[in-house]
Amino acid sequence: VMEGHGVKGLAEMGLESLPEQYIQPPEERMDTSIIVPEESIPVIDMSHWHDPKVADLICDAAEKWGFFQIVNHGVPTEVLKDVKDASHRFFNLPAEEKRKLLKEHSPTNNVRFGTSFIPEAEKALEWKDYLSLFYVTDDEAAAFWPPVCKNQTLEFIQSSDLVVKKLLRVLMKRLNVTEINETKESLLMGSKRINLNYYPICPNPELTVGVGRHSDVSTLTILLQDDIGGLYVRKMVSNSWIHVSPISGSLVINIGDALQILSNGRYKSVEHRVVANGRKNRISVPIFVSPKPTDVIGPLSEVLESGEKPNSNYLQTPTMAPALDLPNSSDVTKLVVYE
Ligand code: SIN
Ligand code: FE2
Repeated sequence: VMEGHGVKGLAEMGLESLPEQYIQPPEERMDTSIIVPEESIPVIDMSHWHDPKVADLICDAAEKWGFFQIVNHGVPTEVLKDVKDASHRFFNLPAEEKRKLLKEHSPTNNVRFGTSFIPEAEKALEWKDYLSLFYVTDDEAAAFWPPVCKNQTLEFIQSSDLVVKKLLRVLMKRLNVTEINETKESLLMGSKRINLNYYPICPNPELTVGVGRHSDVSTLTILLQDDIGGLYVRKMVSNSWIHVSPISGSLVINIGDALQILSNGRYKSVEHRVVANGRKNRISVPIFVSPKPTDVIGPLSEVLESGEKPNSNYLQTPTMAPALDLPNSSDVTKLVVYE
């Protein structure tokens, strides 16, 4: 039953120091000297998203930062609150309940409780538990998603669909893609996964990580975070990191590897990481919008129309199949680089 408690259970045992498996090598820990405190990623008001000026802000942010926050995005505050509450409810379930959803017990690949408390799974462990839900249809979701969070997670997916479409439409327009037909829709948003992340209070936060640095394999990721903070984004072409300050009611958007590939490197999939926290529990809820797992992706023909060469760093990767099985993009080998 122990592993059903997760890292949360471990944290609640009142440990005085961090168990050894969680101690990360110094190069993987956050070095505070590389944080640039005076900078922040763009915050974009989506209420006039079709205004060319706003469209420019969105596309510029995707090119220069790979990350931005959106406000007035149309997802009701109530929906955001409900999904955060539902996340807490899920992680507060008895260990036996969560244990049933571990990889080896879960009745379906589409539902997975994960915890680095299973020590064989990773080299140095991350101070985090998560629930990962792969979305196919509402009906399939209803069959297997945990009742304590099913409706709220579904609601979040459904009510963010419109703003995802707006963002993709704007981003595609700059790439000369003016019509999103069925094939394109499949490449851009053919599958979705929602994760509930729980980062418990950590006895020695500076020695470990919440999530190590990684980029997402998605087309784009839409992230709800609570008011604790701790997500850092790499400033492009530098080894400095910028804090994504929580803004009440906002959503964080980032470009993933799939869109970097589709755009032939124009939009950037940028590394990010989460630090552990010594005083507060933190939750976050990302929705990974991805190609359909069976799609093979490469630079869009519209991008190459003007004679631009396919960038060897951003050529097609066999599939985004990990979306089927792996709960967290950070586990996934990202770009396939052809020299
Ligand atoms: C977050 O918890 O803020 C982001 C998690 C991730 O990128 O994996
Ligand atoms: Fe991520």
